[in-house]
Amino acid sequence: MAKEKTQYTCTDCGGITAKWLGKCPSCNAWNTLIETAVDSSGPTKNRYAGMAALAPASEVAVLSDIEAQDVARTPTGQEELDRVLGGGMVEGGVVLIGGDPGIGKSTLILQAMDGLQRSGMSTLYVTGEESAAQVALRSRRLGLDHSQVQVLAETQLEKILATVDKLQPAVVVMDSIQTVYSDQLTSAPGSVAQVRECASHLTRMAKSSGTAVVLVGHVTKEGALAGPRVLEHMVDTVLYFEGDTHSTYRLVRAIKNRFGAVNEIGVFAMTEKGLKGVSNPSAIFLSQHTEPVPGSCVLVTLEGTRPMLVEIQALVDSGGPSPRRLSVGLDRDRLAMLLAVLHRHAGVACMDQDVFVNAVGGVRISEPAADLAVLLSIQSSLRGKPLPQGFIAFGEVGLAGEVRPAPRGQERLKEAAKLGFTVAVIPKANAPKKPIPGMTVHAVERVDEAIGLVRE
Ligand code: TYD
Ligand code: MG
Repeated sequence: MAKEKTQYTCTDCGGITAKWLGKCPSCNAWNTLIETAVDSSGPTKNRYAGMAALAPASEVAVLSDIEAQDVARTPTGQEELDRVLGGGMVEGGVVLIGGDPGIGKSTLILQAMDGLQRSGMSTLYVTGEESAAQVALRSRRLGLDHSQVQVLAETQLEKILATVDKLQPAVVVMDSIQTVYSDQLTSAPGSVAQVRECASHLTRMAKSSGTAVVLVGHVTKEGALAGPRVLEHMVDTVLYFEGDTHSTYRLVRAIKNRFGAVNEIGVFAMTEKGLKGVSNPSAIFLSQHTEPVPGSCVLVTLEGTRPMLVEIQALVDSGGPSPRRLSVGLDRDRLAMLLAVLHRHAGVACMDQDVFVNAVGGVRISEPAADLAVLLSIQSSLRGKPLPQGFIAFGEVGLAGEVRPAPRGQERLKEAAKLGFTVAVIPKANAPKKPIPGMTVHAVERVDEAIGLVRE
């Protein structure tokens, strides 16, 4: 029965075939056909049968007449997680939480579920990766000895849905979405077809029952394929773990949030007893040099609502005939652009040099305000001269060599001053109106001015 209920849909053009083919007959794209279930309950037959005239028209409402209720949120008790969620779990909301294996997804979610359970919500933790005993072991390790969270070790979607229907929990976790499979499809668990199908069933269940759903997803090596990315459009909130599995700190970033701000981040430290929120994370991405070293510049970046200081490191070294440009935590194309600007507008050439840049601590920086710090660290490494002690920089650099303002410059400067930084190179437009105690501010309009300041 399972077989005749599936078809193959092209992920590019939406074309449908009855059998799997290497090439989509509609758009000729290769390897785009994935198995999907045919929804036999839907009124698909009527669609082309000229019956539309008989269908009753649906009610339409005017926006101002609709009673807008504020969404009901329940805090998870993990303040940093609540911050990225926009205040807590939302009734009927679907959250996708992705990240590398071993980064702490299961740990964080178990801690959050326990918090929700304690605040009176019934929770169900469905595990497809570990046995119930392993989950219990983890909860003891986390110090949640009397946790009332209900656990179900199951991977078949139909059984999970039936259990949810019976228990009617307020929150369900599926750890991980890549382990669930539906009987309707013949594809293997973890394939794009299964992941999509299962996630869409769970999402529909969330919307119709008001149960909040958390989907845990591993980011696979290939990134998009079968990873959580194929689900991003289906869910309400997408959170990704960032950071190095080897370092203590973990960042959780909201990539999409229908119930809150995006690009908000939560910062955690992995401890013996699970993840602990770091409420004042501004200084955690600085390495501790006793003496200033060449090739290092501290950037004041604004992640979500909080300024953070991140050390940018550069290493410029003589390269071969085709020198390399590599960046970790920063955009590589932007690095190439900045090197061109540095050459053209400040006369600093790195054409025959390998250039490596790194944002310390595995943090990923996407804002262009990092440009100035990147350039200054490159210049510093190239000359083998450290920047002055207590030095910070921020500002976007344009192709014409201009230094553009960064949002909320005052806040950034104040945070740096609070942490004891004493010299700042910033865009002219961000120059403070009143002097900041203990800080010398150099406000520059152009890249060559900034480079000139540290070249002496
Ligand atoms: P886990 O939540 O299992 O990762 P994921 O679900 O994302 O794959 O956590 C993995 C790591 O965290 C594991 O290597 C052990 C470490 N850890 C701690 O350091 N302290 C703890 O209290 C727990 C539960 C895990
Ligand atoms: Mg896990």
